[in-house]
Amino acid sequence: MTAEEFVRRLDTENQRLLGRLAPDDTLKPEVEGDLTVVNLLKVALKNEIEATEIAGRWLVATDDVEVKLAFARQVGDEAKHYRLIADRLRALGVDLGSFDPLAKGYGPLFTYLDSLKTTVERVAAGQFTREAIAVVKNRQFIEFCERAGDAETATLYRDVIEPDERYHHDLGRRLLLRLASTEDVQEAAARAARKTLELADELQRRVLATAGIHHAPGC
Ligand SMILES: [Fe+2]
Ligand SMILES: [Fe+2]
Repeated sequence: MTAEEFVRRLDTENQRLLGRLAPDDTLKPEVEGDLTVVNLLKVALKNEIEATEIAGRWLVATDDVEVKLAFARQVGDEAKHYRLIADRLRALGVDLGSFDPLAKGYGPLFTYLDSLKTTVERVAAGQFTREAIAVVKNRQFIEFCERAGDAETATLYRDVIEPDERYHHDLGRRLLLRLASTEDVQEAAARAARKTLELADELQRRVLATAGIHHAPGC
């Protein structure tokens, strides 16, 4: 099929699977302690630092200038999200002095993404799919913040973070339209996207006992 057809199909399939991520189920298993805005923002810090780093690794691993620039843009945005979320936590009275978002190591999604070897798989998994997941989860998080009476955090996500994540998803779409031109490449891209969604789904279902935090709002 053509790249256009492929991207349209992948998008439809992603959206179908994303529809299964039910709001509170999505948030609960990933958080340590009570389900509060503060605890979820700490999970978000881990996501943002992981998203910054994976895009940075991929930026230096490609010779394709358009791909380099897409990952560079993402590195900057994810680092900005980290700083904005940390600022918001401080405003909520949280001392981040000794907080290390990677204290328990990288999560399974980061490890999987880091194992991907081709640009098309990276773009399909890390931008097109992961950022689509981020948009859904952020929307759920905005609703959660509103229910919790935290309009300021909701506004930060609605006005700044979510539009950026949507842009990252669109960067992925544009690159796939150019890169996903053969059947082999399309198969690899679809596999990477599916695995990314599976990992997100698995995290959602996991009962958190010893696993620590993984990935939730914002990436
Ligand atoms: Fe992002
Ligand atoms: Fe982000």
